[in-house]
Amino acid sequence: MNKKLIVGNWKMNPATLAEAKKIAQKVKKVSANLLHAEVVICPPFPFIASCVSKKTTKNFHIGAQSTSTEESGAHTGEVSAKMLKDLAVEYVIVGHSEERARGDTDQNISRRLKQVLDEGMTAILCVGEKARDQEGKYLEDLKNQIKSSLTDIPKKFAKSIIIAYEPIWAIGATEAMKPADIYETSLFVKKVFADIFTPDAGIKTLVLYGGAVNFRNAPDIMIVGRVDGLLVGRESVNSEGFVELLKAVDAVQ
Ligand code: PGA
Repeated sequence: MNKKLIVGNWKMNPATLAEAKKIAQKVKKVSANLLHAEVVICPPFPFIASCVSKKTTKNFHIGAQSTSTEESGAHTGEVSAKMLKDLAVEYVIVGHSEERARGDTDQNISRRLKQVLDEGMTAILCVGEKARDQEGKYLEDLKNQIKSSLTDIPKKFAKSIIIAYEPIWAIGATEAMKPADIYETSLFVKKVFADIFTPDAGIKTLVLYGGAVNFRNAPDIMIVGRVDGLLVGRESVNSEGFVELLKAVDAVQ
């Protein structure tokens, strides 16, 4: 069985490098003892280099929260996939709803994905509906979102793409989505992925759930929701809560 993947999206937190190092140290220490889970922390760009381990730490990986649509050149304020790769980044979040809300388009998301994959890193593609309706129209929207981001991606990259299903209404909310609904939607996501790439790719791709995950609800989301892992926002910069979450998920068989 695959190890579960727990991704911490730190967003624009914490405020200082000293705090960032402290959280990273704690997470590293706990990760080394995990048996059934692996951890990726995604600090803000300026903190990445200081969170990287000097030597390989078991079950611990570094991710980034986004990357440029471009390879290099005159793009003020941008950070390229090559630069991230050079810092030992292994995973890059692409298409987070907060970035989409600032105007990122499916076309840009597809270009960011391409940059990440061309550098040999793993892309964590975020998708999710704004709201749910009785008629199930949200499923159609979800399908279109996945399709338009992945259409131009060659099949050979399917194994390097993880889908993070994050219903937008659950991000930053007090309650996560119901685990049974998570299960249903994650199957739908796998089916869409299979239709774009191959049936085998659909079976093998990892689907994570994100949105109001904490150490209390994480085990149920893993067991009933049957996802391959979690994308955690707020709880990932609360080091005590995150450590509890890692241990709780590790204990889930
Ligand atoms: P949250 O954020 O866990 O704070 O709801 C999740 C996310 O945005 O990835």
